[in-house]
Amino acid sequence: MQSVGVIGAGQMGAGIAQESAQAGYHVLLTDVSKERADAGKAGIGRQLARAVEKGKLDSEAMDAALARIETVDGVAAMGNCGLIVEAATEREEIKRAIFAEVGKVLGGSAILASNTSSIPITRLAQATPDPARFIGVHFFNPVPVMGLIEIIRGLATSDATVAAIETYAAALGKQVVRANDAPGFIVNRVLMPMLNEACFALGEGVATIRDIDLACQLGLNHPMGPLTLADFIGLDTCLEITRVLFEGTGDPKFRPAPLLIKYVEAGWYGRKTRRGFYDYSGEEPVPTR
Ligand code: 3HC
Repeated sequence: MQSVGVIGAGQMGAGIAQESAQAGYHVLLTDVSKERADAGKAGIGRQLARAVEKGKLDSEAMDAALARIETVDGVAAMGNCGLIVEAATEREEIKRAIFAEVGKVLGGSAILASNTSSIPITRLAQATPDPARFIGVHFFNPVPVMGLIEIIRGLATSDATVAAIETYAAALGKQVVRANDAPGFIVNRVLMPMLNEACFALGEGVATIRDIDLACQLGLNHPMGPLTLADFIGLDTCLEITRVLFEGTGDPKFRPAPLLIKYVEAGWYGRKTRRGFYDYSGEEPVPTR
């Protein structure tokens, strides 16, 4: 597999493209427009330049990685890719529409993978050209920092597809865990109830935003407190995944916190809207409660 196609040049897609290029793959990067793909590549350039400034990467390696990333207008150019990774918006109808387009070009032995964080792989597979060559590859944000890929096999995913993704993950220097196709897989199954519980605690007046975050950061040695992490992931995404857990298991222990729902209804999604549990409009995030 020499070429990797990446669909979606947002935070996750750009990170996947960057890591793939640094691992030596030729990358074709696309988004809803060539401009969006170019903007994603420009962001990768800034990330790599920062690594060069810190002395963690030499400038030849940066230039070589950037030269391996080609932005393209749509998936039509991806016919020679051995692997296509979809990292588009987390909406099933969008992913299904993309898979229909990919179906027109996917090579006879190529693999299609989705970076979905919550949609069942077996169900998504029905929209793909060959469910045996379809698989979940769940990366974590920020992709270049996080050392894990969760591999999720659908009912029809073949052993050869799993093996090829394990080879790809090893080339990227990531550890792999295998999860069955259950709601939230492993990481989100464990993480989202914690973030949701932090929202309950805040809503019930147990403590302030600052104290809930500091308690978990220092008391549990987590890199970020749960409310900071929820803002970082996106409160809309957290709510979406929590709903998948709740509806997918039917277990009331996963019911979304009313405060989380309220923030999402207010359009306060976290960092990306500059307002979540913290206000991001100034130099430093400021707790809002
Ligand atoms: N891209 C690339 N590198 C980044 C980065 C980014 N967006 N953000 C930070 N980094 C790098 C920095 O350059 C720095 O690198 P260095 O050590 O080589 O100098 C390193 O990460 C540490 O960054 P900072 O010193 O700026 O800040 P922190 O020490 O606070 O670390 C953090 C930032 C890495 C984001 C850390 O707070 C962290 O690990 N937080 C938890 C992240 C997490 O849990 N992610 C998973 C979310 S769940 C998910 O993605 C699944 C989805 O389905 C919801």
